[in-house]
Amino acid sequence: MGPLRLGVNIDHVATVRNARGGAFPDPLRAAEMALEAGADGITAHLREDRRHISDLDIARLTDLLESAGRPLNLEMAVTDEMIGIALKHRPHAVCLVPERREERTTEGGLDVAGQMELILPAVRRLRQAGSRVSLFVGADPGQVEASAAVGAQVVELHTGAFCDFLREGRAREAGAALDALRNAASQAGDLGLEVHAGHGLDYETAPVLAGIPQVVELNIGHFLIGEGIFVGLTAAIRRMRAAMDAGRAEIAG
Ligand code: PXP
Repeated sequence: MGPLRLGVNIDHVATVRNARGGAFPDPLRAAEMALEAGADGITAHLREDRRHISDLDIARLTDLLESAGRPLNLEMAVTDEMIGIALKHRPHAVCLVPERREERTTEGGLDVAGQMELILPAVRRLRQAGSRVSLFVGADPGQVEASAAVGAQVVELHTGAFCDFLREGRAREAGAALDALRNAASQAGDLGLEVHAGHGLDYETAPVLAGIPQVVELNIGHFLIGEGIFVGLTAAIRRMRAAMDAGRAEIAG
């Protein structure tokens, strides 16, 4: 069982900045604080409509993380424009996600099985440029299998449904969603894929995901940035780190 990494997604610092225009609050400052507080890497989603992270943010984050010797995980849609940007910056990791402009956040996973002819060459080009390629998929055996088939090294399992069910007190559905996540993680591990998980995680749900042995990275954004408003980003990340480690320790025995 590998150690569990925390990737902090700083998109919503940029959301607050963009509400007023200008440069404050700076997502770069959040990235620096996150690394100091115990994040292993930084995640940022460059959306086609640039509603939070900008092209300049990506350039600055690439420089910061390179000089800090820490990984940048660039989330993006599978489009020629985004692939061009990734090839230019060559981030440590690229996570391909589905994207519709009208959605508030990434709803559902990428349909890898239904778009293999689009995704396979994208994965190949990104890998050739030296990035580790991750596909953000639902806990669905067909999608996990297709992810291995198109040559991805990593799957990031979408935890949104599980988190929503748990928050809404729908224990039976949450249990079923968690079983599906466990099965998908185990299948992915058997196929030689590295397993990450993310979306909607908080202090309650992150330790549960930490208890799945194949999961080696959690990517968490919205909750941490929101909690940071009340307790400060450093305290929020430290508490998350501790919650994840406690969840991991339970299965380590
Ligand atoms: N992982 C992926 C692939 C995502 O698209 C997102 C949302 O941008 C996250 C993790 C983080 O989700 P949240 O902001 O809900 O923690």
